[in-house]
Parts: sequence; structure tokens; C-alpha cells
Amino acid sequence: MYKADEYRYENMIYNRCGRSGLKLPAFSLGMWHSFGSVNDMENMKRILFEAFDSGMTHFDLANNYGPVYGSAEENMGRILKSDLMPYRKEMVISTKAGYDMWKGPYGDGGSRKYLIASLDESLKRLGLDYVDIFYHHRPDPDTPMEETMAALDTIVRSGKALYVGISNYNREQTEKAYRILQEQKTPFIINQVSYSMLNRWIETDGVKDFMYDQGIGCIAFSPLAQGILTGKYLQGIPADSRAGSGKSPYLHGGDISREKLEKVRALQEIAKERGQSLAQMALAWILRDGKVTSVLIGASRPEQIRENVKALGNIRFSQEECDRIDEILR
Ligand SMILES: NC(=O)c1ccc[n+]([C@@H]2O[C@H](COP(=O)([O-])OP(=O)(O)OC[C@H]3O[C@@H](n4cnc5c(N)ncnc54)[C@H](OP(=O)(O)O)[C@@H]3O)[C@@H](O)[C@H]2O)c1
Repeated sequence: MYKADEYRYENMIYNRCGRSGLKLPAFSLGMWHSFGSVNDMENMKRILFEAFDSGMTHFDLANNYGPVYGSAEENMGRILKSDLMPYRKEMVISTKAGYDMWKGPYGDGGSRKYLIASLDESLKRLGLDYVDIFYHHRPDPDTPMEETMAALDTIVRSGKALYVGISNYNREQTEKAYRILQEQKTPFIINQVSYSMLNRWIETDGVKDFMYDQGIGCIAFSPLAQGILTGKYLQGIPADSRAGSGKSPYLHGGDISREKLEKVRALQEIAKERGQSLAQMALAWILRDGKVTSVLIGASRPEQIRENVKALGNIRFSQEECDRIDEILR
């Protein structure tokens, strides 16, 4: 039976999630990759324990994480049962529904039917009575937003989730959802959005500032652009990387353009001057202005977590550094 490090809370920063009472660690662990039925159970445990021992209390799932769909939740359920259940009250576990999950008209989108049925199945796979945060995974233009938001409200009131969130909602969609959820008095606390040095859409769209101004938490996913911002692709595509393993349909050699690599190379120089690895600088940069609650990192091995959390040693950027970084990213 795993026993957590008793000093695990000492080196992590915990940020209040929007105006809620819930604090999230500056780094949370995403279970999109590395936790499916195709992955090794011992490695999964080592990643999870490394994260928890580093003070990362938040673990992010979705109904369809795997592959195969559902298997990341099943594996989390197994590890909770064998090792982590004594720590359940110290963990924030989230899941989502919104993308395709099962065949037929009720396994995708934003209907009340899909969201409620999906969460019931997620809870069974996880072996839990409730999740801490339940998200609608993406906006669905075919379902009235009022229906989706009312389903989130029902879920919280039924005790199956403590808080709700949305994901991949832009400024306009976030504002609309927020107004409905406020009227319903639903404990809506967070929007999960993609954000990295190579993907700054939340800045230009205005959703980042909107969330900050309204007191909505912001959790940033794919902060390392799926690994590109570690510099690991500068000398070609390693066979054991996400792009090289052939296991991920979401990152291909073609996504790693020469233009991106030139930026990565230039950014690496600044990281060196700061005494950080590029991965550490890229993660710290997301936290630089205090507007992001948590950075949602993925890992294929525990050593990556160990390296990445050290980013918290320096999350301050001088104006000159910010200007140089902006110039490279332009
Ligand atoms: N809401 C949504 O629609 C949505 C979408 C995508 C993701 N997410 C969430 O965000 C989480 C994180 O996404 P992500 O996995 O794309 O994040 P990421 O942090 O950008 O990429 C993580 C990957 O980069 C590589 N890596 C990480 N640290 C490294 C290091 N120090 N040195 C070398 N390589 C390193 C590893 O891949 P390899 O070692 O295999 O190369 C790792 O799996 C997901 O797990 C999920 O929870 C949500």
C-alpha cells in the first residue's frame, strides 16, 4: 500500500479557483495520455504517486480518455482502490463529457441525456460516489446552452459533483454560460482551455481576462504544446515520445513545423539564462501574471513531473524577458 510523502504540501503553491473556496495546485495532473488500457500499470502508479508526493492534489480525467475510451477512468478507479482511497478527501478528481463517447445519438454533445448518463458511468468506472469537478467538455451548437447548464446544475444538486466547469468555451460562450449558471446559483468555478507559449488564443479572444475579471478559475491544458515546448523534438522525433510512439492520434510529425522549432530554439536561450529547462520556463510563463489558477500537465514518466514542478522555483519574469519572449512568439 502506497504511503504519501508527509511533506508533500510544502513545495506546492495552491491558488483559489476563481471566487470559490476551492484551492487548486499550481500544477495539476492530466490523465489524457499514459493511463489507458494500452499503458503500463506500474508506470501509471509511479506517475500518480510522484504527482501526489509533489503536492499535486488535482487529477483531471474525461469519460473518453484512454485509449480505449473509459480506460483512464477505470485505471484511476483501480489505483484509488489499491492505494489512494485513504487520501480521497485530499484529492480533487475531475471528469468531463462532451466529445464522442458511445455510438448512437446520446453519446456526444451537450444534451441532458448524455451528460447525466455519462457521469453515472464515469462514477462506476472510478468507483466513486462523486467527482469534485464535472465539466462540459466542449460547446455544443446543436443543444440550447440552457439545457446543458441545467444538466450541470442537476448533477451538482444530485450530489454527483461538488462543482461544475466548462471546457473549450470562448469568451462569448463563457459569458453566456456564466450568466445562466449564475441565475441558477450553480457552483460553477472553472473553464479549462488550451494555452501555451505556442497557443495564445485565450489572450486574443479575451476569455482569459474575462475569467479573471469575473472571478472564474482558469486551468490551462497542453501547456507544453504536447511536449514540443520541452525541446525534445529539436533533433528529430524520439521513438518513445508522444509524436514518435504512434500511440497518439493528436500529435504527428507534421504538427512539429520548422517554424515552431525555430521558436523553441530561441526560447531555450532565455530559459538557460533563467537557469531553467525550457519545459520549466514554459510552465512558469503560464503562471506569470497570476491569471491562471492551475497548469494541467501530462507526463509519460515520473521524472517529467519531478523536472516540471521545479518550475515553481521561479515564476517571475522581468519586463525585458516578457518582451523578448513576445518577440520570439510573434
Ligand atoms: N479539455 C480538453 O479538451 C483537453 C484537451 C487536451 C488535454 N486536456 C488535459 O490537459 C492535460 C495535459 O495535456 P497534455 O498532455 O497535452 O500536456 P503537455 O504538458 O503539453 O504535454 C505532456 C507531454 O509532454 C511530454 N513531457 C512533459 N514533460 C516533459 C519533460 N519535462 N521532458 C520531456 N517531455 C515531457 C510528455 O510526452 P512524451 O514523453 O510522451 O513525449 C507528456 O505526456 C491532459 O492530460 C488532459 O487532462 C484537456
